[in-house]
Amino acid sequence: MNKKLFALLSTLILASLALAACGGGGAATQAPAAGGGKVEVFSWWTGGGEAAGLEAMIKVFNEKYPDVEFINAAVAGGAGTNARAVLATRLQAGDPPDSWQGHAGQELIGTYVAGGQIEPLNELYEAEGWLAVMPETLIPLISQDGNIYSVPVNIHRANVLWYNPGILEANGVEVPSTMDEWFAAMDTLKAAGVQPLALGEQWTKLHLLETVLLGTLGADAYNGLWDGSTDWGSAEVKTAIDNFAKVLTYANTDSASLSWQDAAQLVVNGDAAFNVMGDWAAGYFIELGKTANTDYGWAPTPGSVGVFQFLSDSFVLAVGAPDPEAATSWLKIAGSKEGQEAFNPVKGSICARTDCDKTLFGEYLQSAMADWSSNKVVGSLTHGVVANDSWKTEIDTALGLFVSDGNVDTFQTALVAACTSSGPCK
Ligand code: GAL
Repeated sequence: MNKKLFALLSTLILASLALAACGGGGAATQAPAAGGGKVEVFSWWTGGGEAAGLEAMIKVFNEKYPDVEFINAAVAGGAGTNARAVLATRLQAGDPPDSWQGHAGQELIGTYVAGGQIEPLNELYEAEGWLAVMPETLIPLISQDGNIYSVPVNIHRANVLWYNPGILEANGVEVPSTMDEWFAAMDTLKAAGVQPLALGEQWTKLHLLETVLLGTLGADAYNGLWDGSTDWGSAEVKTAIDNFAKVLTYANTDSASLSWQDAAQLVVNGDAAFNVMGDWAAGYFIELGKTANTDYGWAPTPGSVGVFQFLSDSFVLAVGAPDPEAATSWLKIAGSKEGQEAFNPVKGSICARTDCDKTLFGEYLQSAMADWSSNKVVGSLTHGVVANDSWKTEIDTALGLFVSDGNVDTFQTALVAACTSSGPCK
């Protein structure tokens, strides 16, 4: 036996001994669920491009595991607002689905890991070779104490300004790249009787707020909001809130009753000029049969050129999953090249994996891939990356009050208090 082979075999034997010694939580070492079983997968992907993406991945699953029943337990409502409440009730009642959609970052670590609700997946990562194909930046956001807790299926971008190219052209308006240019553009549109901004229900306002914080403060100071190095009580944050208050004045007055799809549709239908939404909107526009650069155009939200505000959907294995073997089969598909290549072009996201075939993706998503690999990356608030659930809820509650009373000082005071009670500003 040559030396290299001997060294390799020794490493493999040591690794398998180490795996055996770890025990527990080790669904990866089990055989594939060839002999039946069922897996209940919980998400909020029920419509508007999202369900179609999920269906595409379920199709791959059904082909690979024809004997495993797939139970699609999706609860409607963008950003998981409803679904996460239902999930929390189920987890509290000891009735977990086998696997669910969570966000990489503080949502995952601060809620599900902290609550002991999900299993570590290190063995699955080793068995599937995922450490070699998942982005290095993502692993720390889904790990704690050396354990990896989820399988990321995608990378979404939050800071996208969608626009109607025809409306901008007809009104002589350039695509804005700064907050001031955006205000000037929206003034022109408003004066011409065009609806400048399409906005939806409460969570989409939180989404808008995070992009305005980023666009006003810049990437470094925005990051500082989440680690305590940017003062929430500062003049800069006040300017950001003032900007946000001003942006709201350009929005439709029936926002509270519109879903994100309703608001995005106003732009592609020619009823509004701009909408700020994550790039799941790209999946929706494809589903609507709309054409990139004709029916819709895109740019980084004003002030955030060169910055990619990201989030990542990832699937977990429940502690006490009714069928851990079938759940592991699902996770294998979620982490696979085939699963991600089926899911992402339809969903409007790029693969979490680094080895997907770029030619499968449309024009918008190819531009997102280029930006993801070249831009400065920061995390989303609304979609779980930068703040734990209690902090996000406090911010969201303060926002709800602000939307109704418009008082900037009260809002800023509440944001300062939220960072002290639930964030790093002790
Ligand atoms: C996000 C999720 C996306 C998309 C969006 C709208 O939280 O990460 O995948 O579903 O909500 O529902």
